[in-house]
Amino acid sequence: MQGSDDGILGRGYGRDGGDDGGSNVVLSIIIPTYNESENIPHLLRSIRDSIQLLLKQLDARAEIIIVDDDSPDGTADVAESNSTHITDEARLSVKILRRYGRRGLLSAVLDGLKNAKGSNVVVMDADLSHPPPLIPTMLDELIQDRCDLVIASRYVDGGSVENWSMKRKALSVSANMIARMILNLNVKDAVSGFFACKRWVLEGIEFTTSGYKILLEVLVKVNNIRVKEIPYTFVNRSHGKSKFSTKIAIDYLRAVWLLYRYGRKKRREERRGSVLFLSRAARFYTVGASGLLVNYGTASLANSLLANVHIATLTGILCSITSNFILNKLWTFEDTDLAVMYTLKQYSYYMGLSSVGGALQFLLTHLLSQIYGMNYNLALLIAIGLASMWNFLSNKKWTFKERIWG
Ligand code: GDD
Ligand code: MN
Repeated sequence: MQGSDDGILGRGYGRDGGDDGGSNVVLSIIIPTYNESENIPHLLRSIRDSIQLLLKQLDARAEIIIVDDDSPDGTADVAESNSTHITDEARLSVKILRRYGRRGLLSAVLDGLKNAKGSNVVVMDADLSHPPPLIPTMLDELIQDRCDLVIASRYVDGGSVENWSMKRKALSVSANMIARMILNLNVKDAVSGFFACKRWVLEGIEFTTSGYKILLEVLVKVNNIRVKEIPYTFVNRSHGKSKFSTKIAIDYLRAVWLLYRYGRKKRREERRGSVLFLSRAARFYTVGASGLLVNYGTASLANSLLANVHIATLTGILCSITSNFILNKLWTFEDTDLAVMYTLKQYSYYMGLSSVGGALQFLLTHLLSQIYGMNYNLALLIAIGLASMWNFLSNKKWTFKERIWG
């Protein structure tokens, strides 16, 4: 069977040449591999021994999809030669996707998913850290419709980790804590690499992070699914090496940050327009009031230090514009994009638009009081009101790129 033009070559094995025609495939087990040749034979046997009874009871089939990144140790070939006798009588087929070049764990899982025919999906590692005997229990939860996503969890009662160094344990616990807190997740093991779900759960998601943590993205992006955690003991691999690295840790933090932004944006869109508009306006004017204090404080400080009223006044104005900008960015408009060039551009917009506001106030006061003969205090009040309205609306639209209303 020829592969598609993105460098993936799929092969099917099994009782009927691997072509199960999509009929009654109850489960696709997706396994990303990189240099796992020593683990594959045992893994395949263990999966077969674990699920063949349940498959028979269900009168259904399952498929294993190994997604290998051209492992130098020949993982794909080892998998291929071990497939045929694994699948005899076992209602099981093994597909091997060979990808060219190392393209990463997440994308491997996604490629596996594209090729999956099962109505349910399990994602697991190849190094036997994730015990295959747990698969039937997970599948049963889904088939009995007790939930839509089952997480094999190290951090619920009864779960644990064996043979990991203190350092690796600490990393895992903190990675998990960071995700649960920042992303406000209600599960104990949010970074588990071992989980099962109905296939539609994964199909609705547009994955955007590049990290190790496919489960995190699922938990953040899919709403209203029923999630269940079942305990297991993670056993450190006895063959081959972990691919964990500093780069993966950094990718992880980036992924959490991206998902945090995603969640905020979504929540913001969900809030009703009028509530949002009013809360933005209230914050904007509070910030404005705080700017008066900053303006006054820094100007009088600068004056006592430099004894130059013009420089002092200018200092006050600049400091208050800057502190207003920062507060409005982070608090009023909840803008979490801190990229330097982007923020500087916003800052210059903010200065420009606020200067226009100043000019507007100046002109209006003049127009109303001098030309139309209005009482000066009243003219000032109206001008300040209109100028600050301009400041709020124009910055909302152009500096922080929001709709005027909502
Ligand atoms: N195709 C492909 N490409 N597979 C990969 C790649 C890659 O670039 N990198 C790693 N894998 C495969 C490995 O061969 C293994 O089957 C699985 O992905 C997990 O890799 P490990 O290197 O064993 O990861 P780990 O044990 O350090 O981390 C595991 O446990 C963590 C628990 O905190 C993973 O399951 C993590 O997802 C999990 O969070
Ligand atoms: Mn591992």
